[in-house]
Parts: sequence; C-alpha cells; structure tokens
Amino acid sequence: MNYPHKTVSSIYLHIPFCATKCYYCAFNTYTFHKEEAKAYLHALRTEMELYASETDPLQTLFIGGGTPSILSANALAQLFTDIHQHFQITPNAEITVECNPGTVDAEKLKVMRDNGVNRLSFGLQAMQDETLKQLGRIHTVAEFLQSYRLAREANFENINIDLIFALPEQTMEAWHHTLNETISLEPDHISAYNLVIEETTPFYEWWQAGDLHLPTDDTEADMFQYTIDTLTSHGYAHYEICNFAKPNRLARHNLVYWNNQPCIGLGVGACGYIKGMRYTNIRGIAPYINKLSQRHKPIADTERMTGHAEKAETLMLALRKREGISLDAYRNRFGEDIETAFGSILKKWIDLQLIEQTASHLRLTPRGLFLANEVFVELM
Ligand SMILES: C[S@@+](CC[C@H](N)C(=O)[O-])C[C@H]1O[C@@H](n2cnc3c(N)ncnc32)[C@H](O)[C@@H]1O
Ligand code: SF4
Repeated sequence: MNYPHKTVSSIYLHIPFCATKCYYCAFNTYTFHKEEAKAYLHALRTEMELYASETDPLQTLFIGGGTPSILSANALAQLFTDIHQHFQITPNAEITVECNPGTVDAEKLKVMRDNGVNRLSFGLQAMQDETLKQLGRIHTVAEFLQSYRLAREANFENINIDLIFALPEQTMEAWHHTLNETISLEPDHISAYNLVIEETTPFYEWWQAGDLHLPTDDTEADMFQYTIDTLTSHGYAHYEICNFAKPNRLARHNLVYWNNQPCIGLGVGACGYIKGMRYTNIRGIAPYINKLSQRHKPIADTERMTGHAEKAETLMLALRKREGISLDAYRNRFGEDIETAFGSILKKWIDLQLIEQTASHLRLTPRGLFLANEVFVELM
C-alpha cells in the first residue's frame, strides 16, 4: 500500500462545552461547568503528551467544539501553553478557533491573537433575533455584531461566519436578508449549511410531533441556488458544497479532511486518521478523563482504512470539493486509474449527469451538487 501522506501535520482539538445546547445541534457537547472544564483540560494535556512524538511541525490546528471561546482567558492561555509545549507549529500555520458570539470578549481575543491564532470561525446561523431564539442560540444579532467588531479590532484578518438555511418557517426573504447582511460585513469565508434534523435533538422530537414547519425541498433548493449565485457574484469562490471563500482564504484545515490526509484528533469524541487508521475517541467526559489518568490513549474505536474502503472514502471526500477529484492525485496515491475501482459507478453517474469529467478532474455537476448525499450513499 502506498501512503503518500505518511506524516501528520494537522490537529483537531475538541472543546466539548457550550453555555446551553442549541435545539438543532447533535455535536458532542455538554453544559459548561468550570470545575469539569478544568479537569478536562488537564486530561487533554496528558493526551497531548501521548501524541507529541507523532506529528511533524503543524501546518493546521483547529480548536473546535462545542464552544472553545467559552473558556476563560486564563484557561485559554493555559491551553495554548500546553499546545506549544507539546507540538511544533510552522510559522505560516493556519490556527483556527471556533467562537460562539455570546462568549467572546476583548481579553480572550487578545490571548488567542498573542498565541498565534490567525483564523476565527463564528457561529451566527441567522440575522433575526426571533430566529436565533427559536434555534436556542444564546446571543442576539447585536451581540454577534459586537463580537465580530471586537475580532476585527483585535486584528483577526481571516474570519469565517457559519449560517444555516432551510430553518423552520424560514422564508426566502429571511434567508436573503441573512445572507446579504452577512456579506455586507465582508467576512473572509462563509459556511452555509442546510439544516439537518439530527435524531438526538429537540428539533427532531418537535419535527416528529409535527410541530416543526420546514421549507419544502423546492424552497430549500432555491435557497441553496440563491446562496451560490449571490456569494459567487460577491467574489466568494464556491470551493466545497457548503463553503465559500475570498481569494486565498480557503479553510486549509478542512481541505486536509476533503483531501483525506492524516490528522490527529484530540479530546472527547474527536476523530483522527493516522498511518491508515481511523480512530474515534471515547464520547463521555468522565470515562475520557479516567482513561487519561491511567495515561492510556482514550480511543473507543479504530478502523484500518485500506484497499477499497480508502479509495471510496478518498473519492467521496474529494467530490465534496467543487473542483472534484484530481485524476493524477488519485493515480499517485493508489497506483492505478480511478476507473479500475469505480469504472461502472462513474459511468452511471456521468450518464445520469450527476458528475462530469474536466481535463484533470471528475466533479459533481450543478445537478449533482443538489443530490450529493444520494450520490455518496452509493459509495458507502
Ligand atoms: C461546532 S458548531 C460551531 C461554533 C459554535 N459552537 C457556535 O455554534 O457558535 C459548527 C457549525 O455547525 C453548524 N451546525 C450544527 N448543527 C447543525 C445542523 N443540525 N444542521 C446544519 N448545520 C448545523 C452550525 O452552523 C454551527 O455553527
Ligand atoms: S451549535 Fe455550537 S453553540 Fe450550539 S450547541 Fe452546537 S456546538 Fe454548541
């Protein structure tokens, strides 16, 4: 087996705390308690020690959640001390922190900036206070604007804003308003997700009970098309199904995932991919801490990605990118043409006009973009 990416130069680090849980969210997060967070960060430090010798100097570091910005300025400073103590970071690395606008202040932003953070990702979701309330968000639009302004004042030059469309009762006009107000702030990157009703959430219960009135599939498709047209006409490249970036502002860490390259995952429930092995950490905070108190890696599951599984995953992830999968990169990685493993399925998708071949790539057609999940399911 040929692994062109033998070394690991990316880390995802999970902070599993939020002030309260948003009604649509199924991420592995828990209500923030100061003492528990302290014990968690202590365990995280041990996990860093256990992985310290396994990385090359980092090119990307993504501190996600949950809500990393819920940590105090002191706790954030300690977290960065721990990170810098265990891992070398290249001078031009991309270091991202996810922030919930309700939890950001100038002091925390300064700690992040002083510690090399050069990219922030704000969860905003919608530009209407009423909608934010219905989503269970802890902040208002005004509080978001204040956090965004503070971040620019603290010299953050690379900021992403997360939005969600196809929300309950959301009209086209409301989505236009959210998107255009967001664009007027000139963020460097926008992630626009369609709402997914996740099983373990209050939204799922309300939907099952018939109390959640979602836009129709046609409206959702119109919202997506409007998003693509509007953002591209404002200079954002549509480079992944849900992601749009100003020039040179593509999310380098996320590209590591879409290119199926190795990444260490640290923290409860985090996933990693090293030396051809995918692993998922224990999801609960107490067992995670317990495992690390014995100085064992807190891994719950592993799966060796070889042969067809690795090829299928590489294809599926790369098709998420607007440019699609590079035929040369695939051949270099696996030592064979992509048709060898996927000839018949690719022919079927081309016939159905779901994918198309460019000079160097295979990529989703505009129609395939809307049906991406149905396309990918055939590879799993
Ligand atoms: C881990 S959260 C990030 C940041 C921070 N926790 C916050 O919410 O402000 C990542 C993003 O995933 C998106 N997201 C979460 N649950 C979703 C769902 N069920 N459907 C669509 N998007 C979702 C939201 O846009 C959210 O900002
Ligand atoms: S969307 Fe963000 S703030 Fe809300 S519960 Fe999920 S991780 Fe926490």
